[in-house]
Amino acid sequence: MCGIIGYTGNNQAMPVIIKGLKTLEYRGYDSSGIALSDHKNFSVFKSEGKLENLIEKTKNLNNLSETGIGHTRWATHGKTNETNAHPHTSEDGMFTVVHNGIIENAEIIKEALESKGYRFISDTDTEVIPQLLSYHYDGNVPEAMRKTFSSLDGSFAVAILCRNEPGTIYAAKRQSPLVVGKGENENLLASDICALSEHAEVFSYLEDGEFAVIRKDSINFFDSSLKPIEKSFKKITTESSDNSKGNFEHYMLKEIFQQPEKIRNLLKDKIKNKKIFLNEIAELSLDITKAERLYIVACGSAYHAALAGKFAIEEMCRIPVEVDVASEFRYRNPPVSCNTPVIIISQSGETADSIAALRLANSRGAIVIGIVNVLPSTIANESDYVIATKAGREIAVATTKGYSTQVAALYMLALHIAGIKKTLTDKQLEFFTNELIEIPEKIEKILSDSDTIENISEKYKEKKELFFIGRNTDFAAAAEASLKLKEISYINSSAFAAGELKHGTIALIENNTPVVALCSNKQLLKKTLSNIEEAFSRGADILCVCKDKTFCNKNYKTIIIPDCTDIFTPLLEIIPMQLFAYYVAKKRGCDIDMPKNLAKSVTVE
Ligand code: AGP
Repeated sequence: MCGIIGYTGNNQAMPVIIKGLKTLEYRGYDSSGIALSDHKNFSVFKSEGKLENLIEKTKNLNNLSETGIGHTRWATHGKTNETNAHPHTSEDGMFTVVHNGIIENAEIIKEALESKGYRFISDTDTEVIPQLLSYHYDGNVPEAMRKTFSSLDGSFAVAILCRNEPGTIYAAKRQSPLVVGKGENENLLASDICALSEHAEVFSYLEDGEFAVIRKDSINFFDSSLKPIEKSFKKITTESSDNSKGNFEHYMLKEIFQQPEKIRNLLKDKIKNKKIFLNEIAELSLDITKAERLYIVACGSAYHAALAGKFAIEEMCRIPVEVDVASEFRYRNPPVSCNTPVIIISQSGETADSIAALRLANSRGAIVIGIVNVLPSTIANESDYVIATKAGREIAVATTKGYSTQVAALYMLALHIAGIKKTLTDKQLEFFTNELIEIPEKIEKILSDSDTIENISEKYKEKKELFFIGRNTDFAAAAEASLKLKEISYINSSAFAAGELKHGTIALIENNTPVVALCSNKQLLKKTLSNIEEAFSRGADILCVCKDKTFCNKNYKTIIIPDCTDIFTPLLEIIPMQLFAYYVAKKRGCDIDMPKNLAKSVTVE
């Protein structure tokens, strides 16, 4: 999930590249680098750590080069240090490259080149690319690329500079995203369209196996056998969303507070005759109502959204739903067919495992519905139908509005299908639709009391571990609550089905073990309270999230959320849990928007 940007045009390349890297920093930020192509050689600058270190290193540089490439790294091979930062340059100085992806046969290639006298200086898989280009190079760069990339296994999005070809950027793509942008006497390429939008007017995504040769006045595409190909360009319409933090200290807090507006926006023009109707899948409706099973496949928080959506679809549509993490789904030979539509959920639309799952589903003849935030993106482009979650650009690595709009989209899908299948009466459809319409205001009510959550979070800042428990829809929210806490505060936390605690994990409960119990599902409240009591009687320190504390033991600290129908509870109870994670992490002095080891879009498997 590294960030790649390349620029060639009439402007000085460095400021354009640095600015592009700033928009890409959320993709990976353990090191960064830039290569500028001048007529004699490359000027390469690399820094460990955040992008600001590279900016500091190059701020007094008056490099007038008009062509260059840049990279922000999320390490897959080799420690996070300056040597392993990209760009990587061939030993003879002929090629320098930046790469996103994993070269799976790098070790074998490295050994073969070392046996021919090549010396390597980094621990990365990427370094084999410039060395192999140099090995195959006899003056013809595309030919050297053809030989190089046909010998690589794995995934790559690569931008290349050749010392003999100043003013030209070469690109190659397999599985990892790469998009080319065309401007006025300037052309660019990047791993994410948001890095292009200031200079390019139109864009074209490279497909697997394609090469591009980019100069300031021309862009040429080739297939892997170097046959020229024509590619269409589309107008860039990325919403010019406000990318500032506004009055918020962190992007994450801003995005938490954006959720009511984003869910309202998602619901807008989706309601006809007081019922949900999704035009995006209008023509699909008949097939999906005959489905023998639905798969929902995703990663991380998107997977947790799927857990919440499962309850709604099964309850309202009476269709079995199988929820899978994409990295498992793609390798378990699932019985997918034309009768089992597959829903792929992804905020970024570029998650490698989710793309692989989509392609597996496609290969088995299944209809694929993408529930995606970033458009265009690989998952959006390759889905048969797309439900856009319209969360706007999400900059914090820990998703909040991305997740909640995914859950809302799944609830809308459930109501759409139930309306077509008539598994709910019009009265029921109207009831659930109204419940959904009221969610944003209820979220605002929770957000208006964020100080309470901040005060509650104080005592957790030193904790080493924390358990989240819940049943049914509460468990779906508990899974997401746990991920939020651990990924930004680094406190080891786990989520358990409340009824499962007594089957082993309760052995870990001792005096003052913090347990956060999500018990907003009213139908199951008494059952969950029994499980909470089992933990409490063993010394656990209980924090409850519920709609009504009447039944809660007075010894439990409680967070009360507004009432709503049980099936939609995750959309409400996740809000105090997002705030809880945020304030605990803030009190621990963590880097909330860019947590260590993480990246916003995991484009490697
Ligand atoms: C969520 O806070 C994480 N950043 C991560 O789990 C994320 O949800 C996951 O990587 C899936 O990303 P996607 O939605 O872009 O596919």
